Amino acid sequence: DKSYSHILTETRGKVGLITLNRPKALNALCGDLFVEVNEALRNYDTNDNIGAVVITGSEKAFAAGADIKEMKDKAFIETYKNNFLGHWAEMTEIKKPILAAVNGYALGGGCELAMMCDIIYAGEKAVFGQPEIKLGVIPGAGGTQRLVKAVGKSKAMEMILTGSVNLNATEALSLGLVSKVVPAAELVDETVKTAEKIASMGQPSVQMAKEAVNKSFEVPLSAGLRWERILFQALFGTADQKEGMAAFVEKRKANFTNQ
Ligand code: CAA
Repeated sequence: DKSYSHILTETRGKVGLITLNRPKALNALCGDLFVEVNEALRNYDTNDNIGAVVITGSEKAFAAGADIKEMKDKAFIETYKNNFLGHWAEMTEIKKPILAAVNGYALGGGCELAMMCDIIYAGEKAVFGQPEIKLGVIPGAGGTQRLVKAVGKSKAMEMILTGSVNLNATEALSLGLVSKVVPAAELVDETVKTAEKIASMGQPSVQMAKEAVNKSFEVPLSAGLRWERILFQALFGTADQKEGMAAFVEKRKANFTNQ
């Protein structure tokens, strides 16, 4: 794995693991850090030996948000011309599933980063919040859109408008923002385990499943259903479909080749 300044990367079997690594700034998401995350994700996306990616931080902080020190003196025209934070969304172009393992603070951009992932697991001490309003701004990397879809309007408004209503792990679980809560020390292993499970499936079907689910956030139901059916039908052109169904009939484990 390549070496970066603000993140660590490691492969575990068929899983790529990205660890945000700016401990002194609680993993504040400076521009360069996000460039590195997206580069690492793209490398995993094109690596045939990798089937899924896990992003994590430290036990104290997944990420405490965009880097306030870096952005505090920015002028509007600069943010507009350079499409400030726009590049973060490159991670939504990644085809392989991305799982977030959130320990500690996931605030502002940290919560938004987690919500750009496909599955979120939380450690018992995780805290999710959108405190941007306290800085005189609003969430700028999807918080006003994705949080509503995850936890509903009233809770999202409460969090975004007060900046101080945060969710602990149990609340995040009951609202559906995260799908599992585990003890902090076990979180990364547990998330990698699920990522391994996903990586053992056929990649064409995994990637099309991710694409179809994400479509549901973007298009009306009829278009989403049409999209789903075409992808479903397309999978009959893959060797993995033949193998998966033959293995079922022959009562053996499928050996997918990602073709
Ligand atoms: N940006 C830059 N530096 C940050 C940071 C951030 N978002 N969050 C923490 N840090 C730095 C602190 O400045 C501090 O650095 P120094 O030692 O140099 O002073 C170091 O990390 C440790 O932080 P604290 O001393 O504050 O640690 P704490 O345990 O007392 O508090 C915390 C932890 C509650 C998370 C607190 O750090 C905090 O409130 N951070 C800011 C959270 C925030 O407002 N996030 C939203 C950012 S805006 C955004 O994300 C926009 C968007 O939508 C993309």
